[in-house]
Amino acid sequence: MPEKNIVEMHNIVKKFGAVVALKGVDFYVRENEIVGLVGDNGAGKSTLVKILFGIHASDEGEIIIKGKKYKRLTPKKAYELGIVLIHQERTLCENHPIWRNVFMGRELTNRFGFLKIKEMKELAYKSLAALELTKMPVDTPVKYLSGGYKQGVQISRAFTFEADLVILDEPTVALSLAEVQKVLDYVRELKRKGKSAIFISHNIYHVYPVVDRFVILNRGEVVAEFYKKDLTPEDLSEIMISIARTGKVPKEYEELNLYKKASPQSAS
Ligand SMILES: Nc1ncnc2c1ncn2[C@@H]1O[C@H](COP(=O)(O)OP(=O)(O)O)[C@@H](O)[C@H]1O
Ligand SMILES: [Mg+2]
Repeated sequence: MPEKNIVEMHNIVKKFGAVVALKGVDFYVRENEIVGLVGDNGAGKSTLVKILFGIHASDEGEIIIKGKKYKRLTPKKAYELGIVLIHQERTLCENHPIWRNVFMGRELTNRFGFLKIKEMKELAYKSLAALELTKMPVDTPVKYLSGGYKQGVQISRAFTFEADLVILDEPTVALSLAEVQKVLDYVRELKRKGKSAIFISHNIYHVYPVVDRFVILNRGEVVAEFYKKDLTPEDLSEIMISIARTGKVPKEYEELNLYKKASPQSAS
């Protein structure tokens, strides 16, 4: 059976003034696939997923989601399409309580338009409990939470939405070891539930255990893609170092590289 892509991005170009952050990127995620998007600082990882989530508009290229074409998205449209982004920059409203943040932008209302507060609190509690985040009452303003706890609240938000594609942009940066494990468990849970995810991290040891495929970005371009099963973490580390130094995949790994660049046609 052919595998279906839940998302495709074609020839994505994004400029910030004179900086070309993305130089014609092709990227896809299959149904029930966890993709590790890796690459050095400034490679364009966050920009790519911000375009997918509708925070930025691309200058060129198109996005295909569940078979339908989009020139640009908005976060609202992305939500509707089942995509959630868990940011590097935190997106919580610090003065609002936890439960409110879990439902931010997707509040439950009754037929008169009133917020279903009790129901939202209960659902928020349930999804937080699944991540063992019940130490703080759901009425607690987010500003009183630790970094890891805040990350957990963002993850509960994605949980509650039953998103088809969850994008995690450096979710493990500010976390303790135990908190990192929770995030990894959450990604495994997504996989079990048949969902997809894009997991961005510059720590390959965080992404390696949970992904199916790696996509390596370098200076705004995809340079390589590998199935996780083809590489050890040490292989991946070696490849990343080589790409950072020379822009190229070491020869001995080129055969495993799934990404074949549309290279200029050899003399014809
Ligand atoms: N809002 C912005 N304004 C100007 N330049 C930006 C902006 N966002 C990203 N960039 C630039 O685009 C490039 C890619 O950045 P980014 O996508 O954040 O990389 P990564 O997430 O891989 O570290 C960098 O050169 C960065 O400085
Ligand atoms: Mg980034």
